[in-house]
Amino acid sequence: MKKLLSLLFTGLLLFAANAQTNPAYNIVPKPVSITEKKGAENFQIDNQSIIYADATLSAQAAYLQEQIAVQTGLQLTTKKGQRIFTKAITPAIVLRLVDSLPHAEMYKLYTYLNGVYIDAKDVAGLVHGIQSLLQILPTEKTEKAFIKGVNITDYPRFAYRGMHLDVSRHMFPVAYIKKYIDYLTFHKFNTFHWHLTDDQGWRIEIKSYPKLTSVGAWRKATVIGHFFDTPIRYDSTRYGGFYTQEEVKEVIRYAAVRGINIIPEIDIPGHCRAVIASYPELSTTPDTTRDVAITWGMFNRQNNVLAPNDKTFTFLKTVFDEVADLFPSKYIHLGGDECSKMWWKADPKTQAFIKQKNLKDEVELQTYFINQVTGYLTAKGKSVIGWDEILEGKLDSSAIIMSWRGEKGGIKAAKQKHYVVMTPDNVCYFNKYQTKDKNVDKLKIPGYIPLDMVYNYNPVPKETADAGLSNYILGAQANLWTEYIPDVQQLEYMLFPRMTALSETLWSGENGKDFTDFKRRLKANIIPRYNLWNSNYCKVWEEWTVKNDEQGAKNAKH
Ligand code: ACM
Repeated sequence: MKKLLSLLFTGLLLFAANAQTNPAYNIVPKPVSITEKKGAENFQIDNQSIIYADATLSAQAAYLQEQIAVQTGLQLTTKKGQRIFTKAITPAIVLRLVDSLPHAEMYKLYTYLNGVYIDAKDVAGLVHGIQSLLQILPTEKTEKAFIKGVNITDYPRFAYRGMHLDVSRHMFPVAYIKKYIDYLTFHKFNTFHWHLTDDQGWRIEIKSYPKLTSVGAWRKATVIGHFFDTPIRYDSTRYGGFYTQEEVKEVIRYAAVRGINIIPEIDIPGHCRAVIASYPELSTTPDTTRDVAITWGMFNRQNNVLAPNDKTFTFLKTVFDEVADLFPSKYIHLGGDECSKMWWKADPKTQAFIKQKNLKDEVELQTYFINQVTGYLTAKGKSVIGWDEILEGKLDSSAIIMSWRGEKGGIKAAKQKHYVVMTPDNVCYFNKYQTKDKNVDKLKIPGYIPLDMVYNYNPVPKETADAGLSNYILGAQANLWTEYIPDVQQLEYMLFPRMTALSETLWSGENGKDFTDFKRRLKANIIPRYNLWNSNYCKVWEEWTVKNDEQGAKNAKH
């Protein structure tokens, strides 16, 4: 027993020593396994170092070269092909694809004879390995960067690790979308969900329907304060913009180099106010001209739904055709959320359509829209994702369900053998408050999601696991709805450090989850990166936890 304790103690000491001296122990998200290599395996890179990579990986080699230059000032060269061992071995970084690795997105990073090797299953895995290497390297300018001998084996727990961004309520320029993608890359996410259309602005060029952007991308004003304040107030500034198809292609290329898939969302048949402002004939009130929405929270308050008629279905087919041709993603998101039924109930033509198609009611009409678009997309070899409302009718497709109204939609979907992405609004809505200090966290969507709540989230509900359906939970995603996020400063404040916590939840999984150790690594290794990137973050994150609040509430009672 004594021996065992002593061994344990030595182990702890060793671990503590490693944690201090080998930066590999500070990596976030935490790798599956790290062991230290001693002595000769210590290695340094300098301006003489070479990045070797197969020809198919030249874009990733250039990416690594650039990141190292930005981070350390070192100017490495890149070379195609593999390293040839000579007597005087030049320090090198070697990037390779190794198909025999057993997991998707897996990589191994190890030092060996004056070199650091990243062997990866695929491009995404290679980019993850590059992130771990960058996290081991210093964040200040240097002539020689030391790498302690190390052996890392790593792969993700979940196949889907996503971040969403709403660019309708507030728009962010292409350069910033790229920076956002860099955040995903750094944190080993693999999916960017780009919410491109909504009531307050249509943000993607569609060549067949130019008014979507000449009219639908612009609103006359924006609500000030909460949309439910009385009296409601507006500014008088025209607001808008859109991404051209060329810009979209540029973003897709940028993401592809970084192993990130982009899922575009065209939200139908609700959230379509910008569409019907552009083309009133697609609404239940074709003779009424309506503006692009200038306030938030349109559900049941103002008409924003598409009418089921020939013009609308031609519109949907054409738009989704263009979108499917543009984005290489297998999955296209068609929204489907918060579709108010009252406008369909009030419209005789819609009622006649429901009768003619033998639909039971407006809920089945909503599903009819979803199934029509699913049909168009399936014919183009794509699959659909939608918010959990699309489960409400008879969904006869292989759609992936994004569970946002808590987890119940996801649990139900998994029972019906639909694949699920969890994004419950009580944990994954990063547009909600992360502190209870109204001086720090001003105007937000109500709800409180501090850092430990995100870190401790498990995307597989117990009920789903108990039913043996865990494999239907593909992963999770955090959403950034931008009603109250008008600029980059605010966006980053909402994002960090919660996104960093989610990355570990999704990558490292339940085994060895340790919030205290996570906080240590966050401080040692990640906050310096936020600073390196000139990115804002919530500075008081440590003061706000679910646990502290429970304690606070208890103390208050006594
Ligand atoms: C949503 O938050 N309406 C998906």
